[in-house]
Amino acid sequence: MTASVISAGPVPRSGSAAQGAIELRQVSKTYGEVIAVDQLDLTVRPGEFVTLLGPSGSGKTTTMMMVAGFEEHTAGSVLIDGKPVDSLPPRERNLGVVFQNYALFPHMSALENVEFALRMRKVPRAERQQRAAAALERVGLGKMGGRKPRQLSGGQQQRVALARALVFNPAALLLDEPMAALDKRLREQMQEEIKALQKSLGISVLFVTHDQDEAMAMSDRIVVMRDGKIIQSGPPEEVYNHPLTDWVASFLGDTNLIPCSIVERNGDHAVVDLGGLGLARVRDRGADGGNYAVSIRPEHLKFSTQAAAGNGCAATLVSSTNLGATVRHRLTAGGHELQLRELSSERGAGLQPDAELWVGWDEDKAQLLVLES
Ligand SMILES: Nc1ncnc2c1ncn2[C@@H]1O[C@H](COP(=O)(O)OP(=O)(O)OP(=O)(O)O)[C@@H](O)[C@H]1O
Ligand SMILES: [Mg+2]
Repeated sequence: MTASVISAGPVPRSGSAAQGAIELRQVSKTYGEVIAVDQLDLTVRPGEFVTLLGPSGSGKTTTMMMVAGFEEHTAGSVLIDGKPVDSLPPRERNLGVVFQNYALFPHMSALENVEFALRMRKVPRAERQQRAAAALERVGLGKMGGRKPRQLSGGQQQRVALARALVFNPAALLLDEPMAALDKRLREQMQEEIKALQKSLGISVLFVTHDQDEAMAMSDRIVVMRDGKIIQSGPPEEVYNHPLTDWVASFLGDTNLIPCSIVERNGDHAVVDLGGLGLARVRDRGADGGNYAVSIRPEHLKFSTQAAAGNGCAATLVSSTNLGATVRHRLTAGGHELQLRELSSERGAGLQPDAELWVGWDEDKAQLLVLES
């Protein structure tokens, strides 16, 4: 396996002013009683990789379909490079799309499938063939142009779909779970390839997944959706380390949620009362709600000594489970159950159950959030 099958050389951009900025202003979509997308404001800057992340039914595909022009929105406006495209058919929006269930034509070869996108745009035959061949080359399928989809693996078919989306030099790419059907290894390989391709082309991408690892690995910015609304948006590390609500924290991975009351709020930090765990200074993003908790990721809890400065508490070990690369420890502390995760390589002699320990955490890794679920 080469590091990147997709080699993206410089590609002449069609049109002159295409920057690939996508903007949704107060966009809604209702199907009868169902509000699929609810007053969404979303911007993808030129060259940015933005991922819509959310559970099934949260409105991700509907949002993409409205940007692409396959679904009409009920309210609001979609702009591409600053111009409203609400009345333009999909083909005139200059967007490359790879959709969930957007299959290749089975009776056409890989090359013909890619060429089709150009035929629809009335590109002359000789130029069509040459550009389609170059696009297949770019996704590492230069020698497979003559094969029908059924003679290609799942990953190869996805690459043909990607070549077809890129061949007309679109302003931006819309990718809706393009790797959902692939196994884990191939998916990780395709993730790296798509990311490399996006970087070298400088193209903006609006990407959809419900896989949090995939979102973390690929995005410049993650937009977390739930029930047709945006719950939080920001760079991957920010959303992961500083979730605004317990739902976002849990959706993005394991976390310790410790209910708390606020003693004092002071800019980007707060002092909170963690009940049996005492007082602690934590990060605060100013979210307001009725009930609060502090989220600390299991990998941000550390075994330490009582003398160490900073936040900490006494804890009793309940169990330790070796997960290969990491060890998961379950602890009780001040009436709470806590999870602590550390690299297997960090642990020498094993810990005994019932061991009395001290755990600590960095105050910047403890996030005050609102309990919404
Ligand atoms: N044609 C339709 N008619 C009625 N309701 C629809 C239609 N299409 C989508 N919906 C509803 O709109 C909501 C959002 O659906 P959407 O397909 O956008 O979700 P999604 O986030 O892409 O989910 P998934 O992860 O399962 O693909 C869901 O409640 C869905 O049932
Ligand atoms: Mg979907």
